[in-house]
Formats: sequence, C-alpha cells, structure tokens
Amino acid sequence: MARLIKSVQTIKTASSNHLPQELECRDFHLDLEDGKGTMNPAVDVRHVSKTFGKNQALHDVSLQIDQGEMVALIGASGSGKSTLLQNLIDLVSCDKQPSSIKVLGRTVQLNGESNCNIRKIRADIGFIFQQFNLVGRLPLLTNVLTGMLANVPVYRSMIRWFTYPERKHAMEALARVSMADYATQRASTLSGGQQQRGAIARALVQGAKIILADEPIASLDPASSTHVMETLRKINKEDGVTIIVSLHQVDYAMKYCERSIGLKKGKVVFDGPTEELSMPLLREIYGTEFGDIEEGVDIMSLIAGRHEARVKAKKEKDERSLQRSSSAFWRETRLGEV
Ligand SMILES: Nc1ncnc2c1ncn2[C@@H]1O[C@H](COP(=O)(O)OP(=O)(O)O)[C@@H](O)[C@H]1O
Ligand SMILES: [Mg+2]
Repeated sequence: MARLIKSVQTIKTASSNHLPQELECRDFHLDLEDGKGTMNPAVDVRHVSKTFGKNQALHDVSLQIDQGEMVALIGASGSGKSTLLQNLIDLVSCDKQPSSIKVLGRTVQLNGESNCNIRKIRADIGFIFQQFNLVGRLPLLTNVLTGMLANVPVYRSMIRWFTYPERKHAMEALARVSMADYATQRASTLSGGQQQRGAIARALVQGAKIILADEPIASLDPASSTHVMETLRKINKEDGVTIIVSLHQVDYAMKYCERSIGLKKGKVVFDGPTEELSMPLLREIYGTEFGDIEEGVDIMSLIAGRHEARVKAKKEKDERSLQRSSSAFWRETRLGEV
C-alpha cells in the first residue's frame, strides 16, 4: 500500500510539473521486497515512450504480461521490438515523462529513472540475444556457469572457480537443452543453434524467472530455429518461466506462442491471441517493411522469403570471413609458398 501511494504521488508530481522529480534509492526499496513470491504480472509497462534524437522508437506503450505466459513480440524491422525488450532490463532508459516499467512486481524504471537496485532485479531476468553472446574461446560449460556469477562470492567469480554442485547444476541445464555432449567444446566451434541453446542453459542456471529473447532465431536455419523455439517452449511449460520472444517470422509465433503483441512504428497495434492475426492485420503490421502489400499476396511467404535471404547472406558472409582468415593464416605462416 505504501508503495502504491508513493508511486501515485511520484507520478502525480511528475504530471503536474511535466518533469519527473528526482528519484532517490529509497523510493525503490519497498518495490524490491514487495515483488517477492507474489503473483504480480511478470511485466507491467505503462505509458513508455523512447526517443533517440529525432527518432521516436516507442510511442506511449502500455502492456501487461502474466507470469507463465509465452508471448511473441512481432513487427517489421525498426518497429521497436529490441528497444522495448532492452527497456525491460534497463539497458535503455525510456523518456523522462510519467511512466513505469515493472518486472515481477519490481520497478525497473519510474518516469525514465532507473532503479538503483537494478542488478538484483536483473538476477531474475535472462536475456537472449540474436548473436548468442557466448564467449567463443571458452568451453560451453564455462559459458553456462557464468549464469551463476551474480550468486557466487566475488573472489570466486573473479577466478571463475565453481564448486562441484554448481558444475553438476550447469551440466543438468545443458542436458535439458540437449547440449550435454558439447560441454567441453569451445563455444566458437558450435553451430548458431547450438550456441543459442547454450545461452538458454545459461539463463536456466541463472535461475531466471523470465526470459527475454530478442530475435533468437533470426540468423538460424529452419531446423535450428525449430529446435531453439521448442527448447524455449519446454522451459515455459515445465518450469513456468515467462517468455517474451521477439520474432520477425510470424509462422513461428503462430506455432509456439498463444499470444502476440504487434508493434508498428513503436506503437502497439495488436495484442491478443496469435490465431487472430489475420492477413489484413499482418499486412498492416508489416506494411512499413514491404511497402503496400496488395491483397492476395501471401504475407507469410514474403516474410519467410526475406528471412531465408538474410540467413543465406549471413552464411555467405561467414564463409567469406573464414576464407579471408585462412588465407591470412597461410600468408603469415608462409606455408602457402611451399
Ligand atoms: N541506439 C540507438 N540509437 C539511435 N536509434 C536507435 C537506437 N536503437 C534503435 N534505434 C532506432 O529505433 C527504432 C526501433 O529500433 P529497434 O528497437 O531496434 O527495432 P526492431 O528491433 O523492431 O528492429 C529504429 O528506427 C532504430 O533505428
Ligand atoms: Mg531488433
């Protein structure tokens, strides 16, 4: 109750002055305690806008997601999906105007000000990036163990010293994503889909109650994409972990997520059961990316075609860079001249 009154007072003050008042750390303390163990929404976003220079990436976004949901965030490139997900973990601050972002009942940002206890809140949030974000030169198991760094003493985290039960826990997480056989392999030698499943295991070891996945399958082929999406769904169903996954490909949203939120130019233009995403709605949501889409054109294959072209271009780029580094290797060792 005290928290509610405090928040209302703060928002009222901010509204009346049109400028948020300076927030102090104590303003957030009650939130940190109140959020524990209760059935708060997993995510509660109110009136969030975000402007980069002259470009408004988010316009007055409000949405609530319950604990245990698996929700797709869909929209054309540049519609604001990444910005919204980054706001939820305070990697980006929203505009300083009356607004709030709460995750698991705890305030991440209030009126564009970050909670000074954000590290504690982040401990419950797993973030999965499109580019996997594993340390390539380290074995997969070590990468997964880094998910525990927030919970081990500083001296141990500095030398990456993990106990037997911690290693066992990380191996169990790898087994759950079908990656136990690759535990000792360097992350850089794994395929994209395997690295992404390693990143999911890291979130499991972290004990994340909510996973935010930003286009986790954008650079993967269909088989790896399916494997990653099935892994996310398994964790959602078996562990009750809330999952918000931004997807460019609507067909995966339809297959794996009961609810979708559609963004267009930073505004929520759809929020409901994924099965209600009709062709006219999809044409509306993706119109900014493909220009005016004529009636009768299959928007799903248009999106799938664009995705395939992207994956192919990335594969070619990776092959070119591999070729470049191997010829550089031969030049440097002069073995090529023999
Ligand atoms: N760090 C940034 N600096 C400037 N503009 C940005 C930045 N991040 C995102 N934007 C802009 O905000 C808009 C939304 O971007 P983004 O959230 O990445 O969209 P999406 O993830 O849906 O492709 C785009 O117009 C993008 O150019
Ligand atoms: Mg993005």
